[in-house]
Amino acid sequence: MKTIVTESADEAARFIREGGTVAFPTETVYGLGADVFNEAAVAKVFEAKDRPADNPLIAHVGDSSHIERLVGSIPDSAQAFIDTFFPGPLTLVMPKAEDVPAIATSGLDTIGVRMPAEKITREFLEACRTPVVAPSANVSGRPSPTDWRSVLEDLEGRIDCVLKGKPSRFGLESTVVDCTGDVPVVLRPGAVAIEQLCEVVPETVTFAGSDETEARSPGMRHKHYSPRAKVVLFDRGAVRQASACPENCAFIGFGEPPEGSSLTMIVDSAEEYARELFGFFRLCDRKEIETIICETVPEEGIGTALMDRLRRAAA
Ligand code: TXA
Ligand code: MG
Repeated sequence: MKTIVTESADEAARFIREGGTVAFPTETVYGLGADVFNEAAVAKVFEAKDRPADNPLIAHVGDSSHIERLVGSIPDSAQAFIDTFFPGPLTLVMPKAEDVPAIATSGLDTIGVRMPAEKITREFLEACRTPVVAPSANVSGRPSPTDWRSVLEDLEGRIDCVLKGKPSRFGLESTVVDCTGDVPVVLRPGAVAIEQLCEVVPETVTFAGSDETEARSPGMRHKHYSPRAKVVLFDRGAVRQASACPENCAFIGFGEPPEGSSLTMIVDSAEEYARELFGFFRLCDRKEIETIICETVPEEGIGTALMDRLRRAAA
């Protein structure tokens, strides 16, 4: 299969309407899209990514009328989050509408819905004229792609089209919140911080890492975000004391790199760290780095999501 690379949202959307697969930019990470209501197209997404069939997909919408096609009834908490954070880096899990094929949600009776904010993404989704399922556009287990070249690195020849856009503004996947229970539960921290969610629905809780989260968000069971290199975490200040780098090692963080680091990225803020992390992991793999030393960050704001990804990469 030849993968077409285009800057035209219309051209890319045509592939979706014809039952194909298209990788497209969003403000979080690049997604690999297919028409939610076309089972054969959705199957191609799982195949291209080597994605386990028990990991449900997020449906992306360009406007609110598409939410109604996907969701049976919108819970009050979800409506409050929609009013505040859509369009944006937030996915809401809600009861699914009957017509949504089981393959899209891995047989669950719920569906994750997200309305991205990036202009080119909205143009693309509008031109698709249907909600679009899209996991991150990487081979399963690899770091999510935050630019179109990283998409090609993993998926060239396995998908129909890549819609070329800018590098992703946030660089980490959306916050996923389950709104089907008594209180909203954060299943995956992301760019919308837990503090922000609690301002809208104060009862919102996180069960990060617990058995319950794993039962409710099947995707979190699978290995994620991993470069081939070994990832090691150090608290700020401890990096220098960590003595010299092992051979062929890289560093990402705020302070001074350990002695002997052969590839270093210094960041100024947690936001910049988040935006650069997955690209840096991929760069390290291309350069055959064996160990990546990552400085930890305080767990507040985007730092919560960043630490979640760092721990998973290091696990
Ligand atoms: O930022 C993002 O969310 C990106 C862009 C492309 O939108 N997408 C993304 O998709 O990260 P993916 O498939 O890599 O991660 C989706 C996560 C998984 O952890 C999955 O288990 C969870 O969302 N999820 C999806 N539908 C769910 C559902 N119905 N119930 C519980 N968890 C769900
Ligand atoms: Mg993913």
